[in-house]
Amino acid sequence: MGKFKIAVLPGDGVGVDVIDAAMIVLEKTKIDADFIYGNIGWELWRTEGDPLPERTIQLLKNTDACLFGAITSKPKKEAAKELIPELQNTGLIYRSPIVRLRQMFDLYVNLRPCKAYQGNPLNYRDDIDLVIFRENTEGLYSGVEFRPVANDLRESLLKYSKNMSKFRDVPSEEMAISTRIFTKEGCERILRAAFEYAIEHKRKSVTVVEKPNVIRETSGMMVEIAREVAPEYKSVELWETNVDAMAMWLVKNPQDYSVLVSSNMFGDIISDLAAQLVGGLGFASSGNIGDNYALFEPTHGSAPKYAGKYKVNPTAMILAVKLMLEWLGESEKAKAIENAVAVTLAEKKVRTYDLGGNNTTLDMARTIAERI
Ligand code: IPM
Ligand code: MN
Repeated sequence: MGKFKIAVLPGDGVGVDVIDAAMIVLEKTKIDADFIYGNIGWELWRTEGDPLPERTIQLLKNTDACLFGAITSKPKKEAAKELIPELQNTGLIYRSPIVRLRQMFDLYVNLRPCKAYQGNPLNYRDDIDLVIFRENTEGLYSGVEFRPVANDLRESLLKYSKNMSKFRDVPSEEMAISTRIFTKEGCERILRAAFEYAIEHKRKSVTVVEKPNVIRETSGMMVEIAREVAPEYKSVELWETNVDAMAMWLVKNPQDYSVLVSSNMFGDIISDLAAQLVGGLGFASSGNIGDNYALFEPTHGSAPKYAGKYKVNPTAMILAVKLMLEWLGESEKAKAIENAVAVTLAEKKVRTYDLGGNNTTLDMARTIAERI
């Protein structure tokens, strides 16, 4: 038995391609681990009506960490149409399994580093080194949504908010509500994770990215708590920036920023923006991290049109492996992977199509593995 038990969930689409690539690199580090493969994703939704079956949840419960490839995710109505005939019209509702996993395992930190590696021709600038802390369990992803809006719900909202009166006469079926729920605990733990990271990695600033001037209660709470905890981290400055302005500053002066912290939806959006500054989603990795479990994935999706073609850039997935090794306490192995990625990009010899080359996903993985 290996020292670690790692669940491996390739998922669907290019998830399978990039997991194959990641395993080549991971095995080269000689990590002492057992890898246990499990199923998740679109085929399971179509044929079983659940993209995240109980057996996969149990597998995760019996492992130390999970490597996750990618899965296809579609809006409710489109997803329902793709069910096999036997499951049509049975009332099944598609919910993103990755969002469920984040909530089920309380993986409250979504860590998304976006760093420009030298020699990457896709860098927007070469001096970008951002680390995004996205709250991963609540906010607009809480799943508390209403359509139609039942009359008694509307009546009670009318009691509590005078702004609700402008919606008094909208027909129930013509109205939808998605709630954005923040808790003190949820805000505090993501903020502390960002500050602790800043201290550990000698970062000079943490920028809280919200919109408290308009979204007074939720964004307001996040910023207030940021001000409360910041003084405990003396060597780190707290900066506050509205999310819309942040999008502009990230394009204008991304090199001025270091650690960013935000709620679930805003963090989702700025992390895609930041990924593009360092070469796109082929370079962006994520760690979904809780106190007792963590799941690592590339930020990109399943890109079904490239599925099985071994064409996509595996760097994001390989950097997710690096994040996993760090979290497991294998920091030497993590550094070796990052260094091998950096050397491979600097050499510019083996390049997938996004980098202007013709090499395959596995060519790139083997090259990185050789440099470990
Ligand atoms: C991400 C993705 C997911 C999200 C989707 C696939 C549900 O965009 O990990 O950023 O919205 O969180
Ligand atoms: Mn996203």
